[in-house]
Amino acid sequence: MVVRFQDGSTEGIDAWVREDGAAFLRALGIGDGDRVLDFGCGPGGYVLALAQVVGPRGEVIAVDKSVSHLQSLQERIAESRHRDIIEVHRTDSSLTLDWIAKGSLDAVLLFDVLQHISDWDTLFASVRRTLKPEGLLLVNPSYMSHPGKVDVKRMKARLAARGFALERAKRARVMHYDFLHEEEILVFRAQ
Ligand SMILES: C[S@@+](CC[C@H](N)C(=O)[O-])C[C@H]1O[C@@H](n2cnc3c(N)ncnc32)[C@H](O)[C@@H]1O
Repeated sequence: MVVRFQDGSTEGIDAWVREDGAAFLRALGIGDGDRVLDFGCGPGGYVLALAQVVGPRGEVIAVDKSVSHLQSLQERIAESRHRDIIEVHRTDSSLTLDWIAKGSLDAVLLFDVLQHISDWDTLFASVRRTLKPEGLLLVNPSYMSHPGKVDVKRMKARLAARGFALERAKRARVMHYDFLHEEEILVFRAQ
């Protein structure tokens, strides 16, 4: 099912954050006080919903390489009451995350981003290093064809090799820019 919002505006993201975002993230295991990384955050609909869920005791780190997406995100954050707990970081495509302390994150989101990344092993090792023991890795593999679909079987094997156990898969409506689409989210736990 695809539900379209207003064309060309940010209403899609904002409406999703208002109406569905917090419940969606809580159902995936994000909670009050969590420190969460959204890698490949794009314009950041998930970032604001995450901030709502983790609250003032938590922290959201939003990472992307796109200047324009991060500008849109910054504008949205500036209007948000959660701006004090959101850190925005622009990468130069580096996947090492060496500026994030070891074992400091409760959860990491890789939503609709793995299709852009060829060196999964480096990214998965970085995510594993930065997560706490038993930390959550939430993955939304791409359903779109651009620039190619994620090979989910290969992805699961590479994550298993890096010490991630697949806990469950949950179907839910996820937000892509200005429309919603029902997809599978894979919930992994660091071993
Ligand atoms: C399809 S968008 C998904 C945005 C958001 N996660 C979502 O699900 O709505 C993919 C994002 O990944 C970002 N990206 C691609 N390669 C990246 C890299 N190596 N480092 C950081 N961000 C990257 C792109 O700039 C883009 O914003």
